[in-house]
Amino acid sequence: EDTTPNFRPIVHYTAKNTWLNDPNGLVWHQDVYHLFYQNNPFGNVWGNMSWGHATSADLLHWTEHPVAIAGDEEEDVFSGSIVVDHGNTSGFGTVEDPALVAIYTSAFKEGSAHRGTQAQSLAFSTDAGMTWTKYAGNPVLGRGSAHFRDPKVFPYEGPAGSCWVMVAVEARHQQVVLYRSANLKDWEYLSTFGPANAIGAEWECPDLFPLPVDGDTDNVKWVLVVNLNPGAVAGGSGGQYFVGHFDGVQFTADPDSLVPADADGTTDLRHCLWLDWGRDYYAAVSFSNAPENRRIMIGWMNNWDYANSLPTSPWRSGMSLAREVGLATVDGLPRLVQRPVLPLDGGGPACTIQDLELADSRLQLPDAIPGSAQLIEAEILPGTARTVAFRLLGAKDGSAATVLSFDTVKDRLTLDRRNSGNIAFHDKFASAESAPVKLDGGVLRLRLVVDQCSVEVFAQGGAVVLSDLVFPLAGNQSTEVSAEGGTVTVRKLAVTALS
Ligand code: FRU
Repeated sequence: EDTTPNFRPIVHYTAKNTWLNDPNGLVWHQDVYHLFYQNNPFGNVWGNMSWGHATSADLLHWTEHPVAIAGDEEEDVFSGSIVVDHGNTSGFGTVEDPALVAIYTSAFKEGSAHRGTQAQSLAFSTDAGMTWTKYAGNPVLGRGSAHFRDPKVFPYEGPAGSCWVMVAVEARHQQVVLYRSANLKDWEYLSTFGPANAIGAEWECPDLFPLPVDGDTDNVKWVLVVNLNPGAVAGGSGGQYFVGHFDGVQFTADPDSLVPADADGTTDLRHCLWLDWGRDYYAAVSFSNAPENRRIMIGWMNNWDYANSLPTSPWRSGMSLAREVGLATVDGLPRLVQRPVLPLDGGGPACTIQDLELADSRLQLPDAIPGSAQLIEAEILPGTARTVAFRLLGAKDGSAATVLSFDTVKDRLTLDRRNSGNIAFHDKFASAESAPVKLDGGVLRLRLVVDQCSVEVFAQGGAVVLSDLVFPLAGNQSTEVSAEGGTVTVRKLAVTALS
């Protein structure tokens, strides 16, 4: 019997046989969620960049389709977005039957007249996203730059009428550049944001969207998402965001979301706003045209530090769970809160606990079940303990596990994969990530989703998120919760198998 773990996730998207990176062109159209993504149709490492394609009705069950937009002799097809052209501004469809229009980055190859540059191009679909035609007038927007990419386009309604707005990056200048257009073909420069906060080496995959604060539609703020690599808080790739105002021309960050540089010119990354404090949530962007004004994001669950070396085959790399995001007042300031989109039909929890005291002791929880992911939901009062910890995907003899621990003295939540299983495939993989977490009336609220090769942690209603890949050895399924240095009250705990 072959006991080599296969690691294929149960509730996360992977391509069947190939490599993927950034989610692209996330769009909801005619009751279907479309996930396009950076894909190598011919291998399981980065290369031959094209847009792969999958669809889903519920953001959990995905069907893979043929490559949607292929790279060719002229260009690699890099990241970008899709809009539903309801008003047929582009002329690619009709008002009755609007086209989907993809705005992607042409990374021009040596053989091209545009070699040495990256510019923005269009492709359109008039069959609800299944087949795509590149626009003959490509590229539609260049600036003579070799690092101008990752356009995210959205419809904008201003006092002067409606238009399309694009955010893209000038990656090596650590800048987001904004443009506007009436027809998706002709673009006018608006403004530039950055560098600011976590500067890193390259800014990539920006996004800009409005959200009501605490659900109050009279108090709408704008969120600017900036992914960057390397230079994120946990090392390598990661996503930060800014909260502020967009007036149709310029994004202005609120002073409370800007981190001033120290006297020596460096920025304390721990004070920046992070989509995720773990190692494996990158290139995250949101869906266009999502129903009921929902703002749903997906990230690539990987890190350029070791992305091409993950010990899986024939596929390599997957997406995060979809996350519904909102703005909520956290410690008096508007901050992003994220909750994972989870199956509704999970059946009852395999285990529920209420009001249990753990005094310097550990409690065994149901094992992870092969072929299922595990949802662990807990409300814990750390009380007098020094730490409360979950051991996930552990060996029965205690010799290995991924450990999530909350330190009550430092108020920090740490996800430690240094002894999680196969860590040897890359020297940058072994790591422990931590985030500041404040108890809420003495309570730590956690939602953990543990899949075959990942752990996603949503703490305090999703105000803090930590996501890491892990590659446990075969059979390591043991799960437990423990208290050290005092007494913890487990107010509620439920473990549910997701299949
Ligand atoms: C981010 C990124 C993008 C680029 C794409 C290429 O991971 O580097 O900036 O468009 O990947 O695959």
